[in-house]
Amino acid sequence: QADLIHMFKGIPFTTRSSLELLKSLDTFDAREDDVLLVSYPKSGTHWLAQIIMQLYTNQVTLTSPIEFGDILKLEELKNLSSRRIIPTHLDYNMLPMNFKNKGCKAIYIIRNPKDTAVSMYHYYKDNPYLPTIDKWTTFLELFLKGDVVCGSWFDHFLSWEKHRNDDNILILFYEDMKKDLPKTVKKIGMFLGINISDSEIREVCKKSSFSEMKTNIEKENADPNHTVCALTSDKKLIFRKGTVGDWKNHFTPKQNKLFEEMFSNKMKYSDLAKSITYEF
Ligand code: A3P
Repeated sequence: QADLIHMFKGIPFTTRSSLELLKSLDTFDAREDDVLLVSYPKSGTHWLAQIIMQLYTNQVTLTSPIEFGDILKLEELKNLSSRRIIPTHLDYNMLPMNFKNKGCKAIYIIRNPKDTAVSMYHYYKDNPYLPTIDKWTTFLELFLKGDVVCGSWFDHFLSWEKHRNDDNILILFYEDMKKDLPKTVKKIGMFLGINISDSEIREVCKKSSFSEMKTNIEKENADPNHTVCALTSDKKLIFRKGTVGDWKNHFTPKQNKLFEEMFSNKMKYSDLAKSITYEF
């Protein structure tokens, strides 16, 4: 178990992100037209990736998360000739400097942390690349302490929130997408500077629905080194339920109280956190 996780700058990473790679990220050569797809794990990264990939009509490449793999990863990314859509779970402070210097566009997707925790619990439970978790209670404690891959949800959120008004950053909510996907797709198109008609939007939404993605992806035989999800090629772990509010089936009233206390404490100075009101 100990060989599954290691620490880097105080944050737990899977050992499938090599220390050598993590240390070299700061010198990463970003390109002005790179698009970052940023998320805390289990916030809807695959969903967003599916939408973005459909919006581009010219050739773009969706890479695996920048922090995943060994040092060869840098070479691999360098050799891509097409525009790169690069997922990452890094918090803002850890993002390679060159993305910031070059003003690369970044889309940050946020999901109600209660549902994120539940989704991550199931992901942990069935994933051989992550430490074994026996019970939901145990996992929730680890989640609240930030003792899970990619660290604390709260710290991640706060690090990106500081940049919510930057021109090159678009913030999206999973729950908004569930409520009105066409609206979000339109927003993404505008942010990326892509012209898209209403009928095209409808088509994108259709192909990005949970059921459609789940069915299609089960047919694919994806190479785990080249997917958004770095830790499994088992798509059943990724397309689990895709709903809002599954936390209600997991949290006891006591756990919910504890969570909310911690949330209001950590988010005391956060404006963005006020948007997370859906069934919270
Ligand atoms: P659940 O475990 O709650 O079902 P990520 O892509 O960041 O790993 O996030 C995975 C979560 O997003 C899973 O949540 C998954 O079901 C959900 N998801 C994936 N595709 C989706 C879609 N098209 N619509 C809604 N939710 C989706």
